[in-house]
Amino acid sequence: MTEEANRSDSSKIGTASDDSITQGVMRRSLMKGATAAGAGAFVSTNLAAATDGGKQMEDSDSTLAETPPMGWNSWNTFACNVSAGLLKETADALVESGMKEAGYEYVNIDDCWMTEERDENGNLTPDPEKFPNGIDAVADYVHERGLKLGIYESAGTNTCAGYPGSLGHEERDAQMFSDWGIDYLKYDNCGDHHGLSAIERYTRMHEALEATDREIVLSICEWGNNDPWTWGPDVGGSLWRTTGDIKPLWTATEDTWYHGVIDIVDMNEPLSNYAGPGHWNDPDMLEVGVDIDGYPGLSETEDRTHFGMWAMMAAPLIAGNDVRNMSDTTRAILTNEEVLAIDQDPAGNQGRRIQNTGGADGTEVWSKPLANGDRAVALLNRDDATSTILTSTREVGLDDASAYTARDLWDGVDTVTAGLIGASVPAHGLAMFRVGRGAKDAAPGAMISISTDEPTVGPGESRELTVTFTNHAPNALKTVSVTLEAPDGWESEPATATFRDITAGPSVEGGSGPENDASTDWTVRPPRDVESDGYELAATAEFADSTSKTTFELTVESS
Ligand code: GLA
Repeated sequence: MTEEANRSDSSKIGTASDDSITQGVMRRSLMKGATAAGAGAFVSTNLAAATDGGKQMEDSDSTLAETPPMGWNSWNTFACNVSAGLLKETADALVESGMKEAGYEYVNIDDCWMTEERDENGNLTPDPEKFPNGIDAVADYVHERGLKLGIYESAGTNTCAGYPGSLGHEERDAQMFSDWGIDYLKYDNCGDHHGLSAIERYTRMHEALEATDREIVLSICEWGNNDPWTWGPDVGGSLWRTTGDIKPLWTATEDTWYHGVIDIVDMNEPLSNYAGPGHWNDPDMLEVGVDIDGYPGLSETEDRTHFGMWAMMAAPLIAGNDVRNMSDTTRAILTNEEVLAIDQDPAGNQGRRIQNTGGADGTEVWSKPLANGDRAVALLNRDDATSTILTSTREVGLDDASAYTARDLWDGVDTVTAGLIGASVPAHGLAMFRVGRGAKDAAPGAMISISTDEPTVGPGESRELTVTFTNHAPNALKTVSVTLEAPDGWESEPATATFRDITAGPSVEGGSGPENDASTDWTVRPPRDVESDGYELAATAEFADSTSKTTFELTVESS
């Protein structure tokens, strides 16, 4: 059976049937029974949401997933091409690449690991070609490297790829998994359900796992069809999928059963009340660095946004790329310690959207309260052009103070702000900060941006741009010098611009007025023989021993 064979419903935002055996069905009215701060997905400002760290669920007594589980899974890149060799090489690569040290712990085999029938005793059998020495040999290999092994089954008569399911065989299968040394079970929803509800079917497997002498994480994968966030912890679930399957793309068209990263962000956001230590919303596995036929994949900027947003949402981080052959960029994204610390923060809050200009192309501000009182703040640009996104320490939910330190989580640079937090964010980009009260000995916070009414220019023609510098720091700046870097062969005027005596940024405690910014016009002209394409311009401001930089894409179009 093919991957798609079990799926008859292809609607992206359809209404869920109570116990659907198909997938791709997703509820938008997710807040049944919740005290729904953030229930409206497109609230423009929701200060209460940012300051309320309250939980819908009592923390469960499970200690298996106190922070969101981290690991790797075969499905997103390899689909049915699983084997002992792949698993072992992946375990080695997790160790060698530093991913294990960064926290990636589970090595998870997804669908297609078994033969098409149970054996004469009713036992599941690992495919002898893919796993010639059985699953236990792989478990040993993985455990010897300090990692844990996960496996996949389905709470129906078959798996989504058509292999035997566990419904009616829960005790036997759970015992087998335990005997093999399995540490994590992703339990899917495909196959016939014999009229049993999802709660009944997942409870059965939970009880079967409990009856073994091994601690096995139960990862519920019923695609959010039956509001698993309302019952997942009660049936021993440490995490539950909230949506249909992710694919490596930014956003999917309306008529597909799978979703892009940004679609999933919208579906997972209203569920923040249900996440907490031991029980997590699972917006599906990571597509960072995933390159598969039939899908566009994500750009480097989109990969970073995907990863950063999963961290903001306290999502399980299960890498889905080929870690044996990943680029340095992919590895750097996946092992970014400061972003991982946001995901793994012990308070376990799922961040919320607190500002939204609305629509598919909007800009958003997200805030996640952290255990030490700081806030993780993310500025998300869904638009296809660079956008300036601005928020304040008050809006993100921090108590008033005379100054704050904002640490940029991508470049690790601290800056001091009187209250404004902002950045010029590239198309599909995500600026991310950790913001806390008090001024560290760090550079003044500032923002530089480039704007124009018309982001296009003809060959040999001029385009006027406005470069704006905004001071966020609690002190005035004497001199700011700005340069604009255009591609080779382009004319650009002036060579530099100097702004003087820029007032301190506005403070949450009141204070300075609006004169904390300065702007100037710049004229750029590409050569006559330039090719039609997008060209990057970069503006850099230098002030008080520090710099602030932004880029902007100008499109050359011949008429
Ligand atoms: C479902 C799950 C996926 C994957 C496949 C395997 O689609 O949602 O994550 O496990 O099944 O067939």
